[in-house]
Amino acid sequence: MTDATLRARKVEALTEEEAQQELAALAAEIKHHDEAYHKHDAPEITDREYDALVQRNRAIEARFPELVRADSPSRRVGAEAAEGFAKLRHGVPMLSLDNAFAEEDFLAFTASIRRFLKLGAEEVLEFVAEPKIDGLSINLTYENGEFVRGATRGDGMEGEDVTRNLLTLRDLPRKLKAPFPARIEIRGEVFCEKADFLAFRAQQQKAAEEREARRARGEKVGPAITIPVNPRNFAAGSLRQLDPAISAQRPLKLFAYAMGEASEQPAETHWAWLERLKQWGFVVNPLSRLLPQEHAAVEFQKQVADGRAALSYDIDGMVYKLNRLDWQRRLGFVGRAPRWAIAWKFPAEQATTKLLDIEIQVGRTGALTPRAVMEPVGVGGVMVTHASLHNEDEIARKDIRIGDTVILQRAGDVIPQILGIVPEKRPAEAKPFVFPETCPACGSHAVRPPGEVVRRCTGGLICPAQTVERLIHFARRNAMDIEGLGIENVQKLFDEGLVKSPADIFRLKNHVETMRGWEGWGARKIAKLLEAIEARRRVPLERFIFALGIRRIGEQNAKLLARHYHSFAEWRAKMIAATTVGSEAREELGSIQGIGPAIATELADFFAEEHNRQALDELTKEVTPEDGAATAVADSPFAGKSVVFTGTLGTMSRDEAEAQAERLGAKVTKSVSRKTDFVVVGAEAGSKATKAAELGVKTLTEAEWRQMAGLD
Ligand code: IVH
Repeated sequence: MTDATLRARKVEALTEEEAQQELAALAAEIKHHDEAYHKHDAPEITDREYDALVQRNRAIEARFPELVRADSPSRRVGAEAAEGFAKLRHGVPMLSLDNAFAEEDFLAFTASIRRFLKLGAEEVLEFVAEPKIDGLSINLTYENGEFVRGATRGDGMEGEDVTRNLLTLRDLPRKLKAPFPARIEIRGEVFCEKADFLAFRAQQQKAAEEREARRARGEKVGPAITIPVNPRNFAAGSLRQLDPAISAQRPLKLFAYAMGEASEQPAETHWAWLERLKQWGFVVNPLSRLLPQEHAAVEFQKQVADGRAALSYDIDGMVYKLNRLDWQRRLGFVGRAPRWAIAWKFPAEQATTKLLDIEIQVGRTGALTPRAVMEPVGVGGVMVTHASLHNEDEIARKDIRIGDTVILQRAGDVIPQILGIVPEKRPAEAKPFVFPETCPACGSHAVRPPGEVVRRCTGGLICPAQTVERLIHFARRNAMDIEGLGIENVQKLFDEGLVKSPADIFRLKNHVETMRGWEGWGARKIAKLLEAIEARRRVPLERFIFALGIRRIGEQNAKLLARHYHSFAEWRAKMIAATTVGSEAREELGSIQGIGPAIATELADFFAEEHNRQALDELTKEVTPEDGAATAVADSPFAGKSVVFTGTLGTMSRDEAEAQAERLGAKVTKSVSRKTDFVVVGAEAGSKATKAAELGVKTLTEAEWRQMAGLD
């Protein structure tokens, strides 16, 4: 009897032999669909059909318990949770780099190093130049000289455990040649060469066409075939294969270039560090150079740019790293990037294509943004079809009209930009673009306040586009990180009336029955979504603040706020108090290093709106924001203290002193109040020192500050 005819029989009518035969078929079939769903993200049947298979398997097993197979799908309950990669936390965060695009940017960078370190013009800055390869950065941990695990960068704090896949790389030393520190993290880039990428792409394209032809003939086909768009995408996809046997067939390479956490410092300079890497058996990029002084970079940059087309792999610029590691340590980081390194990008690639349409998108703050829809064109290694046109003035200034041939530019990871048009190619009928004065999503007036470039929808909460955009932002990966709540699902939940505010997301568990009725929303999908939601009932305060989508409160500012106010209760209370202009809370907010009065106003405006406070209170009934990152070094005298620097310091710049105080857990502010714990007074200090004396705030001399900060 075939599987299909068996399946049509009632469970009660099956003989033992038939049951055994069907259980074997079901085990194989369910396994196949599990893989299609989880490994390839390409389900071949609906969730409902899948559920029916699982249900049938369960019913047969209930009747013939002695026939339950060792590999039965019902025994693999945990299988879904075990899918994917385990998370690994990096010993030291993996950060990114600031960019330079021209000589001025690079020289501004070296000047800022000099200022920060208070170096005179006579001090020489040596740099190491390394190519910036467009691949996938990884973190390799070695213990007692042995490779123990490796992770992708992930969100910078934790990545995915790809140890088994990395073991398929020939360039990865399994053991370091002695001597080595007991524990060390080594960072590098996994990439693939252009020729390997093109060959693989051609092969995948052929396979995809054949699959399509089979499907057209009505034949059974395997999971969808993915075609990588650029070498980076290919390298990332290959390394993140769940089956390391697939990674093994992909021609991946590795260059090592940086150090993470280390039990002891293996070098004094970056150049010596690269030498160590080579001795240990790593491949260091042969184009790396030690430059004797900063101006040598200008010549070297040009030389590499001219020769880069001949390289067998793509590079999008050069990374310049200050050679002295003691200086690197003093410089530290600002935001997510080091002060001691910069990526100097090569000029962008350009292409021309036809502008087919201009769409208007409504953002979460109501901004109407025009977007170009173009004939697809390859530029800088990817196919481009859309580009932002920023605002109406930009369209008018560049006189961009539908039907024009536009010049497009894309540099590395930078979003495509329209530089201008080719006037000779303008069709006779092309008319200037008229920017709408009503919101395309809700029809409300879209107004442009005098002096501003952005036109905004006035619909607020009644504008569906704004609400949906806010919800998408809320669930985003770097915000609340709710897996499965992407654009499509948020839109569906909103259209069906289940989710109108962030708090509603956490009440979805009461609506399982409703969701079950929707096309494509099977039990598995719903269970996964609810699980992802439940996992986010506790989140770090900084993520929570960022997720609220308040104008100008990006990740960086959210972090500053979380660090300053520490707990949600404190932050909320202070923000409400700050709605009063001139209040102490408003002053405090505006004087947080990196926030300033303009952003303070934005926050105050948000909290002044009754409906925002309501939405927030509803939300905190469901979600608990965890106290802000304790950056404080527990035993530092500055931990949790509010510190102001004034006057000129002799041994370090104000920036360095402030950064150092923050590293020790201090809140650095610009103005002195009764809440200030310490004022560090340098030479020629003015009114702040006087105010400190008036208010009886403790002042420190530079020498006292250095001593308390452990710098001497
Ligand atoms: S150093 C804190 N060196 O560029 C220093 N990064 O934009 C961080 N990259 O995530 C990295 N080549 O994936 C460094 N020679 C190089 C690099 C390099 C490519 C990538 C890396 C990193 C990104 C930062």
